[in-house]
This record gives sequence, C-alpha cells and structure tokens, in this order.
Amino acid sequence: MDTIKSKLQTGQSITVLTGAGISAESGVPTFRGSDGLWKNFRPEKLATLEAFQADPCLVWEWYDWRRKLIEPIEPNPAHYVLVDMENQTEQFTLITQNIDGLHHKAGSQNVLEIHGNIWKVQCTKCQCLSHNSEVPIQILPTCHQCGGLLRPKVVWFGETLPAKELAAAQLAATHCDLMFIIGTSGLVQPAASLGIAGKQAGAYVVEINVERTPLSNIADETRIGKASDVLIDLLS
Ligand code: OAD
Repeated sequence: MDTIKSKLQTGQSITVLTGAGISAESGVPTFRGSDGLWKNFRPEKLATLEAFQADPCLVWEWYDWRRKLIEPIEPNPAHYVLVDMENQTEQFTLITQNIDGLHHKAGSQNVLEIHGNIWKVQCTKCQCLSHNSEVPIQILPTCHQCGGLLRPKVVWFGETLPAKELAAAQLAATHCDLMFIIGTSGLVQPAASLGIAGKQAGAYVVEINVERTPLSNIADETRIGKASDVLIDLLS
C-alpha cells in the first residue's frame, strides 16, 4: 500500500488547504493561469479597500457578477471526497482560500474560510455581519440596522486575514499527521505559508494540482492531476 493510503488509514489528524483549483471542475474560474480572473480583471481596481472606497458601484457590480456565476454551481466529487475524509478522521480541519462556499454546500463541517465568503456582507459603518444571498444584489446594498454601506465579507489585497480563522488554521497546520494542499498556486501569503508550517511541524505533506507549484518543493509528494481524480483514487 502506498504511503498516503496507509497514512489515511492510520492518521488521527488531517488538515487540508484548498484553493481555486478544487472548484475549477465545478465551473468556478481560478485566478491565475490562461483563463484566470486576473488575466481579464485588474485586482487593484476590484479587490482592494481603496478600489471600493473610490468606486463602490464598480466593485459591487463585479461581486454581483461573481455571485450570479457561483449561485447555480454545485460542488464536484473532490468536495464530496473531503466530506467523506472528514467523517472518517478523528481530527479534521479544512482550510480554504475559496470564497464560493462550496465546501459547506457539499457538507464539510470544520471549515476555516480564511479569505471570507462571497455570501456574507459587513456594514462599513456599524460593522455588523450578515448572510446575504440576494442575486442580483441591490447596488449599492445598505445595512438593515443603520443604513450604512455594505461590503462583501471577503479579504482584499492589502487586508489582514480574520485573526480567529488564521490562528485556527495555523494550529491545524502545525498539529496534523497528514496535510493535503489542493488546487492552489501557492503564491498568496499567508495561506501558502500554512503548507510550509505543516511540513516544518512534521506533517506528511501531499500536494494535488494539475501542475507543479512553488509548494511542490516542500511537499513530500506531488500528485499531478485533477483534484477529483486524484482524491477519488486515494480514497478508493
Ligand atoms: P490560483 O488561481 O492562483 O491557482 C489555482 C491553482 O489550481 C493552480 O495552481 C492550478 O494549476 C490549479 N488547478 C486548476 N484546476 C485544477 C484541478 N481541476 N485540480 C487541481 N488543481 C487545479 O488560485 P488560488 O491559489 O486559490 O485571494 O489563489 C489564492 C488567492 O489568490 C485567492 O484566494 C484569491 C486570489 O487573489 C483573494 O481574493 C484574497
């Protein structure tokens, strides 16, 4: 039996870090690569606090477009394999950079959304947080409590990650036997550093991606292939 399969059977603690690649097979665009969002859109015009302050309509229109795109999308087999993995593991944490909510939709429970969630909004005035699934969303959306302008509850470039989620992610990365890094280019910090932290703390690190990334250099194994194919093969 190969090392990953035997570790899956004996491992008490598994941490998974996912990126846009796990949702690609569902039809959610990734950020980098030939069809990536950042090929056609400029992040500094759409995904920074400065951009939102300068032109909240434009930023909200972009998020409304992404919400429309994501709303009908269903999880794919890779998401569901991770639900099974969670059910079979004593201690399981799923850290995701994805804001699409597909891990929750598939049924994963212990999910840390370190870059936020496109279906959550926060008031820029009273800071209250709420769920918002309106599609299309009213532009500009306002807070039911105080009338302030709402923003998407996602992490923009230049912003810090939510402290509680990041601390929990760091703990999970450094206290696991087996760590999977799935469908991320490993180019965005501090998310990518979680893989390095896991390796340094002694986890067996397995990367799953359609191509090699900077994280391939620290991984114990890189399995090249689509997330669903590789995960189904590992858990069968
Ligand atoms: P990227 O778009 O940077 O990388 C997606 C990765 O998925 C690439 O390495 C692809 O090779 C891989 N991939 C594509 N299809 C795959 C498949 N079917 N199976 C496995 N791998 C596949 O996305 P992220 O790494 O998630 O941040 O990007 C990180 C962050 O950058 C995002 O969370 C976002 C973005 O700017 C914020 O918005 C804060």
